[in-house]
Amino acid sequence: MTRTVFVDGVLNDRVAFVTGGGTGITGGVARALAESGAAVALVSRKIEHLEPAAAAINEKGGKAFAVAADVRHFDEVERAVTATIERFGKIDIVINGAAGNFLCKAEELSSNGFGTVVDIDLKGTFNVCRATIDELKKNRGQVLNISATLHYLGTPMQLHVSAAKAGVDALTRNLAVEWGRYGIRVNAIAPGPIEDTEGMSRLVPEPIKERLKKGIPLGRFGRIADIESAAVFLCSDAASFINGNVLVVDGGQWLAGNRLV
Ligand code: HXC
Repeated sequence: MTRTVFVDGVLNDRVAFVTGGGTGITGGVARALAESGAAVALVSRKIEHLEPAAAAINEKGGKAFAVAADVRHFDEVERAVTATIERFGKIDIVINGAAGNFLCKAEELSSNGFGTVVDIDLKGTFNVCRATIDELKKNRGQVLNISATLHYLGTPMQLHVSAAKAGVDALTRNLAVEWGRYGIRVNAIAPGPIEDTEGMSRLVPEPIKERLKKGIPLGRFGRIADIESAAVFLCSDAASFINGNVLVVDGGQWLAGNRLV
């Protein structure tokens, strides 16, 4: 567990609002923040994903609660923000991890299919940032967006996700500039191929996996723990002058010219 390199309680007294925090990469990030001392609100559409994740954190002595909200709907996000403040008193870390994805050729993608993913990934990220700005200002807080590397190259069957994540990167840089004056840091992590995630098992066809692995300069797939460590670092005071960055955590995969899909 690479996260043991951090001092115990490095995020003590912080409160994190984590969208997509029930499962996958962002589920790991939520767990890691909690193990580092933060109280975490796990937010997504499906309460059935969130409750077991919150229970697992609480059983290990952490502080977590589950609150259902679809990030596409601003009023639902606002209600989740209010519930988090009622429960934990404040919000000073926002993790935008809620994401939609499916494989589809651009020529077959419907307008609604394109819009659905953009609404979840990009508009959802905006909605959460917008709904938490007062808290972030008050607490000199920070935002960490979960992006991707898909849009650095043309990635077939991922036009919708690539467009959405390119927007997330733009939002990251823009808010870093606009909100830096409030002491708010806005950064992103762009994970490469991470094993044991729904994204990898559902989206990357089996025959492509071995070829993909061979093309990764570090010779292995990423692990959820790799993203957890990057997130704990960026949320900690060790990163207090890092603002507007998209930290690529992919073993050098995209630089080697390898497409994920
Ligand atoms: C083509 C599809 C489709 C598919 C949905 N649509 N799935 N089009 N191929 N496989 C279209 C629908 O036809 C519809 O358009 C529109 O999208 C909305 O679909 P709904 O099912 O009504 O929407 P909703 O219930 O809101 O679900 C949206 C969803 C979501 C995006 C499909 O269920 C989802 O993504 N679930 C998976 C979540 C997930 O895996 N997240 C982790 C992502 S990993 P029409 O025109 O018919 O109305 C990641 C990392 C990237 O992002 C790394 C990649 C390797």
